[in-house]
Amino acid sequence: MNDPSREFLRTDFGHEVYDKWYLEQGSYNFEAPEFVERHFPFYEKALQLSKSDSILEAGCGIGSYSRAFARRGYHIVGMDLSPNFLSEAEKITQRENLEIEFILGDYNEMNFEERFNVIFFEGSFFYQSKEGLVSLLKRIHEALTPNGRVYFVHKNPSIWQKGYPITNWSQIKKNVFVLQKAAYDENDGVEKCIWLKIDLETQKHYKCDFFVMHLPPDELKDCLMAAGFMNFHFHKKRRLGNFDPKNDNDFSVVAKK
Ligand SMILES: C[S@@+](CC[C@H](N)C(=O)[O-])C[C@H]1O[C@@H](n2cnc3c(N)ncnc32)[C@H](O)[C@@H]1O
Repeated sequence: MNDPSREFLRTDFGHEVYDKWYLEQGSYNFEAPEFVERHFPFYEKALQLSKSDSILEAGCGIGSYSRAFARRGYHIVGMDLSPNFLSEAEKITQRENLEIEFILGDYNEMNFEERFNVIFFEGSFFYQSKEGLVSLLKRIHEALTPNGRVYFVHKNPSIWQKGYPITNWSQIKKNVFVLQKAAYDENDGVEKCIWLKIDLETQKHYKCDFFVMHLPPDELKDCLMAAGFMNFHFHKKRRLGNFDPKNDNDFSVVAKK
């Protein structure tokens, strides 16, 4: 029996079925303006922002952080691999009368040379291997101007893995169900996530699965150095203050070129 209607169709960020679900049901994944505003004093201090800085938000989604930068007069470019999120980002930005350049692109393939003073990731810094991380950090290093800074949040695997596995079933419409499951594999330091959308009416089913690696902080330091970053600081997550590897779930990284 090889009935194609029973096969799961592959989706990911950038696929309209996954993105539509993410926008409608998973909108909490995009940060609310109040949340973004609350943490802005931290970003300005930790990144030593200056109004002449040119900033790239990598993985900007619907542009919540990009708009916060633009409202304060920074020159910001938002980049994402999803055309669906970017078109939403453009609509909201126009409604607010702000001007932001949004570009469609995969940050693992970005090819800028000394173009940005700051590259900013919030909830969008993903890698699948140590080599992949070093290669991404090298691209970031190349795209930064001298003294440029990169910002991202990183998990602390030894503490954070205790919250796993997570399984969540939801019914999003009559006869349409979504299963989300995430498990942490201690041996290879990888979070394995799966998303299934099961539509009993149309019999079309969709699947997205992805691995996200979370190296321990010391290995992250090695990768930053291998990519050319010699000057970096691990803060508490979105707060000034030193990260505590024994107790903190995750941390905010600022590295300077
Ligand atoms: C959890 S959302 C966060 C969005 C936004 N930073 C926020 O906090 O509102 C992650 C975003 O990263 C984007 N993304 C994931 N991998 C990417 C890549 N390799 N290049 C560009 N964007 C990527 C996704 O499309 C998605 O919009």
